[in-house]
Amino acid sequence: MSTRPVALIILAAGQGSRMNSDLPKVLHPLGGVPMIEHSLASGLSLEPARVVVITGHGADQVEAALADHPVTCIRQNEQLGTGHAVAQARAALADFTGDAVVLFGDTPFVSEDSLTKLIAARTDHDVVVLGFEADTPARYGRLVTKGTALHKIVEAKDATSDELAITLCNSGLMAADAAQLFDLLEQVDNANAAGEYYLTDVPALAHKAGLKAGYVTCPEAETLGINSRAELARAEGIFQASRRAEMLELGVTMHAPETVYFAHDTYIGRDAMIEPYVVFGPNVTVESGAHIRAFSHLEGAHVSQGAVVGPYARLRPGAEIDDGARIGNFVEVKSAQIQEGAKVNHLSYIGDATIGEGANIGAGTITCNYDGVFKHHTEVGARAFIGSNTMLVAPVTIGADALTASGSVITENVPEGALAVARGRQENKAGLATRLRARLLALKEKTKKG
Ligand code: UD1
Ligand code: MG
Repeated sequence: MSTRPVALIILAAGQGSRMNSDLPKVLHPLGGVPMIEHSLASGLSLEPARVVVITGHGADQVEAALADHPVTCIRQNEQLGTGHAVAQARAALADFTGDAVVLFGDTPFVSEDSLTKLIAARTDHDVVVLGFEADTPARYGRLVTKGTALHKIVEAKDATSDELAITLCNSGLMAADAAQLFDLLEQVDNANAAGEYYLTDVPALAHKAGLKAGYVTCPEAETLGINSRAELARAEGIFQASRRAEMLELGVTMHAPETVYFAHDTYIGRDAMIEPYVVFGPNVTVESGAHIRAFSHLEGAHVSQGAVVGPYARLRPGAEIDDGARIGNFVEVKSAQIQEGAKVNHLSYIGDATIGEGANIGAGTITCNYDGVFKHHTEVGARAFIGSNTMLVAPVTIGADALTASGSVITENVPEGALAVARGRQENKAGLATRLRARLLALKEKTKKG
């Protein structure tokens, strides 16, 4: 295998007009992240020295979405074709020596294995293309081969009927020495049916220049390109099916895996149990042996061993559910740590809080964390017992082993071991209900007659 440095060039300038969307195509989410992150992630498995993303349509949005990634974005102001797009990277890679690997931002399923194969084949060929046997070759470019050599690629629009009969198709991915690729691209013209500068002209030009072009193949499923909402939905289905299979393989129990939705980075430990209809947003870790009950929604959360979440729970970013803690039905947790063995079992909102070990949060308890401008913290000590329907007006601290009376609005700190009562005192007026009802009924009679 080649050990030369690699530069990725990811094409993402196209409009994606068939998406019928204001959002650039490559930013449509797949597995909870913009689809371009999938190509980027498989490309990063090659440990590239450089990553260049070619942007165009919706460039501002695409560049903002990639701001936290180690990539250089280059604009292709006019989309004149895939060859023209790759050529835009020339200046950015002027000082780079090594292989360039071209990826498409809208082709998310290319595997690390296939990329490794592509690079490995550079040992025998100057230009290597990733091909696949297509069930329905339709609009794909066709690979015209002789043995292991790739003679040329013909775009479907420009193909003869003999060439259209070829089922070995172009995935769009290509690897070549970077400097050589840019030199060959200088010779590409737009004298073709689409009037575009085709990247696919490179293999034939390589031959002319006395260089060798070849190909490797991958399963068709990896080359799925996304051009419409229907294809995006299909891709999401494929993504989910593969994540579910992977989770089962890793020892996660799911009785109805087809109802569980994962994000690209969901991590679930062995022997965790995920009940039906659970949805994972990005950045969730569920440790071994934890139990996520039906109809729960989790994002940016960490659930430790032996914790039980749901049914019908919502864990938002920053939810940290420690060993053996319990989060019950209709409970929302955000930026809060629920420490070992603590229980929040019914109808609560716990935000910006620390709930101490073994504390019990009564039904309907709410941390009033937001004053309309600032967020404030609530601290509940170990083993504290928060009575049902307590409003904890933050910032506020409840000491360890303290108790709040149900229905209290707690605005001041409660010392360790104290009982806080913060509600109107009950008064019983003897016989008043009976007298009141009698008066109302009499009034009703009178109204009927009159
Ligand atoms: C391309 C290939 C075709 C292959 C198919 C696989 C060419 C000429 N054809 O066709 O052989 O079978 O992919 O899906 O390469 N892009 C830019 N700037 C441009 C044009 C395109 O950034 O000026 C980007 C698009 O956003 C997209 C990718 O390049 O991510 C591919 O472009 P697209 O127009 O979809 O090429 P296809 O016609 O599908
Ligand atoms: Mg395409």
